[in-house]
Amino acid sequence: MTYTTAAVPGALPVIGHGWPMMRRPLQFAGSLSGHGDLVEVRLGPVRAYVPCHPDLLWRVLTDDRTFDKGGPFFDRVRSTIGNGVGSCPYHEHRRQRRLIQPSFHPERLERYATVMEQEAASLTDDWEDGQVVDVYRSLYGAALRTVLRSLFATRLDAEAVDRFREPVETVLNQLTARMFLPRSLQRLPLPGNRRFDRAVAGLRRGIESLVAEYRCGGTDRGDLLSALVAARDEAARDDAAPGGGSLDDTEIHDQVLTMLAAGSDSVAAAVSWSLHLLDRSPEALARLHREVDTVLGGRPASGGDVPGLPYTARVVTEALRLYPPGWLFTRVTTERTELGGHQLPPGTTVAFCAPAVHRCPRLYDRPDAFDPDRWLPERARALPKGAFAAFGGGARKCAGDAFGLTESTLLLAAIVGRWQLRRADGSDVRPVALSTALRPRRLLMEISARDAHPAEDGQS
Ligand code: HEM
Repeated sequence: MTYTTAAVPGALPVIGHGWPMMRRPLQFAGSLSGHGDLVEVRLGPVRAYVPCHPDLLWRVLTDDRTFDKGGPFFDRVRSTIGNGVGSCPYHEHRRQRRLIQPSFHPERLERYATVMEQEAASLTDDWEDGQVVDVYRSLYGAALRTVLRSLFATRLDAEAVDRFREPVETVLNQLTARMFLPRSLQRLPLPGNRRFDRAVAGLRRGIESLVAEYRCGGTDRGDLLSALVAARDEAARDDAAPGGGSLDDTEIHDQVLTMLAAGSDSVAAAVSWSLHLLDRSPEALARLHREVDTVLGGRPASGGDVPGLPYTARVVTEALRLYPPGWLFTRVTTERTELGGHQLPPGTTVAFCAPAVHRCPRLYDRPDAFDPDRWLPERARALPKGAFAAFGGGARKCAGDAFGLTESTLLLAAIVGRWQLRRADGSDVRPVALSTALRPRRLLMEISARDAHPAEDGQS
């Protein structure tokens, strides 16, 4: 197979393609496949190759020894979030992944689903008829609490959640944008840099107190943090295996921070975009209402309901195709290699940009249209590997994919089961400029209790 390559025109000195990526990230990313199967862009001053063909993206994702985590994005992640399982290089990854993987076992997921249920119920209980809700912000709070309560089985009061909420948000808002800034500018005492540094320090303090609380408790709570602490303690007792399989203090911090960063805004963004798309598609909303009403019949959604909600899950998957929250990551080549007929020397930056493939017209019929039935098994089967990469792929595929899908499905079902949402004035659904997770700037929705407006639900 012959692949086409091209340089994308319009790069500016210093910021490269930063301007169109900031102003219209989806249009820019979606247009890349029109230039070629492997295209060259500038991430700030750095030249990067973006695979726009599913075969090439799949090769990059699955050959993580050659296309290792690195490049401008992961360099910034390592210097802020640290060297956790999501950002560490290949030679550390398998060991770290083995340590965190048991926390994502399907049996554990059943228990986490109880937390998800409770958070979804508490979110929808708090809303009032006629209220205008800032959708992403509400969902972000629920998702952050869910990760904290599931993986760090901690009793959290509102104050403790707030300790994490603002700093996680500040860090995530700036990480991607910082790829486009020279390091010298990032060190200047500018207000944005100071806010960022304060947020990182605040997060470190918050995590330190969380870990200290665990050490004092000394009991296994059956969650991720207990497993991380125990792995360390066991190794400390076992002289025969110094460091083997264990995590030191810094690594524990880095894993906690990784989970908070990876598991909060991604879910909030996925459900926000789902609600935005449904607002523009009355037919899909009516189908969703029918499914949710049949399965839930007005009661709160629970983890066991998820298998009975296939259309809800397809809505979430289609939202993830159109608006993949993780939209721009980088890799660096560790040796000379060939990609799509193009020779890449060691040290070359390759960008994993899911929308470049997700919106490719050669793969998806009417790629910009919202069509949840694309994900009916018989239609989805026809897609090549690499055509849907919202969770990445290969050994570095999202560890929380089932967690994230279950949570998003439950949240969406819980919301639409009780409330009718309509976009309100003052919304701005353009994606936040260069945010780490692709999310709407401000999605305001007016909510009304569904049983108060049965006629508006059509056949539901
Ligand atoms: C809809 C929700 C989510 C989406 C779209 C998503 C997306 C992704 C993507 C694209 C990657 C790979 C990045 C790369 O290859 O550079 C990733 C990695 C990861 N995600 Fe998620 N994620 C979601 C939810 C979660 C949740 C809820 C958690 C944890 C509770 C989580 C934990 C992780 C971890 C630990 C990694 C690193 C895996 C590794 O390198 O071994 N994610 N995620």
